[in-house]
Formats: sequence, C-alpha cells, structure tokens
Amino acid sequence: MKRYRCLVVVGAQWGDEGKGKIVDVIAGKVDLVARYQGGANAGHTVHVGGDAFILHQIPSGILHAGKRCLLGNGVVLDVAQFLDELDALEARGIEAAARIGVSGRAHLLLDYHKRLDQANERRRGEKKIGTTGKGIGPAYEDKIARAGVRVADLLDADRARRLLHAAAERANERLRSAGAEPCVPAQIVDGVLASRERLLPMVTDTGREIVTTLARPEGRVLLEGAQGAMLDIDHGTYPYVTSSSTTASGAATGVGIGPTVIDGVLGVVKAYTTRVGSGPLPTELEPELGDRLRELGGEYGATTGRPRRCGWFDAVVVRYAALVNGLTGLAITKLDVLDTFDEIRICAGYDVDGRVHDSFPYDLSVLDRVQPVYETMPGWKTDTSAAREIDDLPAAARAYLERIRDLTGVPLVFVSVGTRRDQIIPMN
Ligand code: IMP
Repeated sequence: MKRYRCLVVVGAQWGDEGKGKIVDVIAGKVDLVARYQGGANAGHTVHVGGDAFILHQIPSGILHAGKRCLLGNGVVLDVAQFLDELDALEARGIEAAARIGVSGRAHLLLDYHKRLDQANERRRGEKKIGTTGKGIGPAYEDKIARAGVRVADLLDADRARRLLHAAAERANERLRSAGAEPCVPAQIVDGVLASRERLLPMVTDTGREIVTTLARPEGRVLLEGAQGAMLDIDHGTYPYVTSSSTTASGAATGVGIGPTVIDGVLGVVKAYTTRVGSGPLPTELEPELGDRLRELGGEYGATTGRPRRCGWFDAVVVRYAALVNGLTGLAITKLDVLDTFDEIRICAGYDVDGRVHDSFPYDLSVLDRVQPVYETMPGWKTDTSAAREIDDLPAAARAYLERIRDLTGVPLVFVSVGTRRDQIIPMN
C-alpha cells in the first residue's frame, strides 16, 4: 500500500466490515490512531495471538504497544463504559491509560440517553430503527440542539455538577412524556464526577495533536471510522442510519483537522453484505442461503449479539460508498467465508420498474422496489485461509476479486482470509 501520511479507514457497507482487523494491521506503521464518530454502538473485534478483543470506544490501535490513541470531538463518550473498557485492557496486561487522549470537545453520553434511545424505539413499534440501545441518537440530538455536556465541562467540578443536573432534569421531561422511567439526576452527577479524576488527565485537543504528529518528518496518522457509509446520517439509508457522519468527510470534522490534511481513504468491505437493524438491504438472501452465510461468517453483532441479515456483495452500494467517501483503496475481508459455495453472485445494478440503474437511490420508496441485477460467478470450492499472496488464491477467487474491483472502480489493497493478524493478502 502507498505510504499515506493521514489515512482514513471507513466501512463501505452497513458496518461490521472488519475495520478493526484492517486498522490493527495498519496501526503498527503509524504513530497515532484516532476515532472520529460514534460511541459504544461500535464493536470492533480484533484477534491477537489466540485472544479476541472486542473494543467499543477505544481505537483498535491500542493493541499495538506504544501507539497513541485518541477519541475525537465527534465521538459521544460513555465515560463509565469507556473506563470499564480501559480496565479490561489493563487487566489483560495492555498498558492503555497513558496512551489515550480524549477530546475536550467530545460530548458525554449519559445513562438517560440510553433510556431515551430505548424508549424511542419502543414508541416506534413496527417502524423501529433497530438501534443498539446505547443512547447514540439522543446524545447527538443534545449536541445538535446545543444542550449537551462536553468533556471540557468537567474541568470545573461546580460547573459540571450544575450542567449535568440541569441536563438530567431536561431528559426526565422527555423520558416521562415517552412513558419511561426517569433517571435520578443526583446519581448521574455523582457517577460522572466520580470518573472525573481518571478522565481529566486524558483530556486533549485532538486536532492539535494530529497536526503536531504530522509535522514530524515521518509522522503518520490513522483515522478510524465506526459503522459504515450506509449508516451515515446524511448519506445512508435514512432514517435507518446512525446519528453521526461515518464517512471520510466526518473524519476531518470529528477530530478537528481540515480535509486537505487527509491523503488517503481506505474503504473496508466484506466479500458479501450484512446489516443489523431495520431498513433496506437490496441483496438480502432468503433464509436458507442467508442462514448458511451467517453461520459460516459468524455474523452476530459484536455489541448486541443480534443475528446479522446477510446478502450477496452489492457493487451498487460500494460504488456509492466510493463516491461519498472518495475511496482511494478497498480492503476486502472474509473472502474465506465464501470458500464452500458452488456459485457466488454479485449485484451489478438495480432494476427499478424495468429500468436498470447503476447508482444508489436516495428515495427509500424506490429502494423498496429494487430488484438486484446479479452476475453469477463460479465458486472456487477451495480453502483460502492459508493464502498469503494473491497467487495463492484459486483462479475463480481472483476472478471474483477482479470483478469487484472493476464494478466498484476502486483498486484493491488488502484481502483478508481469516481472523488472525497474519491472514491477510497485500494486493500491491
Ligand atoms: P445506533 O447507532 O445505536 O443509533 O443504531 C442505528 C443503526 O445503526 C441500527 O441499524 C444499528 O444496528 C446500526 N449500527 C450501529 N452501530 C453499528 C455497528 O457498529 N455495526 C453495525 N451496525 C451498527
């Protein structure tokens, strides 16, 4: 892969593409890794030497000794869960606290946000979004409504107490009107203030740290996205999306740098498609094949354990993700999951009312009528998990990868064939 100075790694489908593994592979070569959006809704599973680590808020880069890891201003921070995650890492011998920085501009995600998220979902009934229940939507609502509490507000204990109490009272009004159990404001205040001592030494200005790192002759930075392009608040399948800017442009805003600082955007996709939660999934498979893919790929949510919906690779989605992210390269994960299929399909276009489209529709009612136009390719029926170079792959697998490259228009940079760090094929 070309040596980028400031690379963004994004999901180019509906999340769960295996970004954690790709970030883990690249993190060894950079100085600093920063998360730029989302919160504990994310679940990055990384396998290191037989151990599986599930990280929710802390960047996957933390598993590399000595790397600096930041949580940018675009993140909504669940302080209690963040500290638990930190403790779990330290308990497994990973020295983490001294290497983590948290933006003073990040907003706090509090217990009442989770209650509101769950109450909102109950109220939506059949139309529920299928959120992770981690409070993401309500936390971003408060931020955009200019009613949130930020990490920097904790610097002064009295101010923190006052702001948190008022915010909890306001949340209780919303909880009551949603028919949900209100929170106890004093408990919210005490909980956050008890974490203050541990959190404050980590508070930083993430944009400044990143720019300072890049000013060093060999300085390199990786910006780690959570979720995926199709869950982006602007570009995804709204309203079945998350509440943050998951795409590469969100990376600049979400850490506090200008867009010109970024010089590469790596999109991560599975060799097929999955989605958790409600909303359109044009290539969703009928139960028999879908169940087979789910079992082979272990497709259950890392955060909620929910079964993921499964489908064939959708090139229309990834072409669109390439456009909205400005992808400079593609990493394809879980190719090995397709090893036993007789034939494999790729969705090359969408038939809507008899006309074939090659772009992703913005109107969900159009998306509902989409019939995927498939190309069928022969399966390779060979175990690919030991492949370490492109030439180790069977010809049919190489042909499949080339077709993905041609249909999406994005050069392939990595192909992964298993969960371990070494099960990865560099493509150039
Ligand atoms: P929220 O982010 O919890 O509000 O959930 C909104 C939508 O995004 C739901 O469909 C979730 O299933 C989905 N989502 C949120 N985080 C992830 C993730 O890390 N992977 C996959 N889907 C996610």
